[in-house]
Amino acid sequence: MSDIILPGLIDVHTHLRVPGGEHKEDFATGTAAALAGGVTMILGMPNTSPPLSTPEALQNAYAQAQADARCDVGLFAGASPEQIDRLPELASHAVALKIYLNDTFGPLRVEDVPTLRACFQTWPEDKMIAMHAEKQSVAVGIGLAAVYGRPVHFCHISRKEEIELIADAKMRGLPVTCEVTPHHLFMDETDFARLGPLGDMRPVLGTPDDVAALWAHLNDTVDCIATDHAPHTLAEKWSETPPPGVAGLETSLGLMMTAVTQNRLSLDRLIQLMHANPRRIYNLPEQPDTRVEFEMTPTVIRNEAMVSKCGWTPFDGVEAVGRVKRVVLRGEVVVEGGKVICQPGFGQVIPV
Ligand code: DOR
Ligand code: ZN
Ligand code: ZN
Repeated sequence: MSDIILPGLIDVHTHLRVPGGEHKEDFATGTAAALAGGVTMILGMPNTSPPLSTPEALQNAYAQAQADARCDVGLFAGASPEQIDRLPELASHAVALKIYLNDTFGPLRVEDVPTLRACFQTWPEDKMIAMHAEKQSVAVGIGLAAVYGRPVHFCHISRKEEIELIADAKMRGLPVTCEVTPHHLFMDETDFARLGPLGDMRPVLGTPDDVAALWAHLNDTVDCIATDHAPHTLAEKWSETPPPGVAGLETSLGLMMTAVTQNRLSLDRLIQLMHANPRRIYNLPEQPDTRVEFEMTPTVIRNEAMVSKCGWTPFDGVEAVGRVKRVVLRGEVVVEGGKVICQPGFGQVIPV
């Protein structure tokens, strides 16, 4: 079968671990993993150490990304009650704002109404607000979207009750969008039983019913596939206090293309979910002369093949229908024969 040509994929949910977690991932390795997976633009999350919730931390991360990124990168600013007065200052170096409503990795959390009001009143109107919201917190986010009449994007929606609530909100014309991850589509709680800490992430893997609901809504309610690439070392994952999170940049396209060959979604829909909608929702720049060549050769996903610094994937041993062969970014071949060949600094950081 001939190769399939796709636009450069956009992952709106990646953890790059700079600053403070460079032993897990850094801009050079995380963006190499992205390109190896056919992803030419990523949005980096702010739950670093320190978090990207002060202008200083954000500017430093932005400068480091300019030096080290191999694909294009935008950064999220992180909402924090302690720094809320300085929130507007963060906008010049950020693509969007991230608000964590529920417990997960890192210290960023917003649990009080005054901070939420300040976010919606002072964050620039033309930049997106994204939320880590689970269960009834999704209703909080929908309420804020309605009150302030501005869009909210829900990260990694994983439960039947959540996707159904978002479907209801959309039906009533509220400006909400959402993403789902491949791990919540291709694994469920029985895989957690098998994988132990390697199958632990936030949100946790769902029930088979939850997974069925995500698939059932993939062609209407879901707006994006996003990886929530959250690398941690194997030593950390097997420690007494394993952090939640799994890598995802290198396995996302192969798994989703497998679903295309099983008629679970069309190739056009995949392109909407992994390129067009991410770009529209976050108002991201076009990448001219950029494409991904995907080779339809059955390929077993292997830990040893991972480019991410963490060096493992919960999908080790799973067969995908193909693999990324070549990636062209702004006219330059950046992946050839599956190998990343561009240097750190080739990627652009947005806003430029
Ligand atoms: O599993 C997760 N890991 N979920 C999150 O929300 C954060 C992430 C991380 O940063 O490791
Ligand atoms: Zn999250
Ligand atoms: Zn995340």
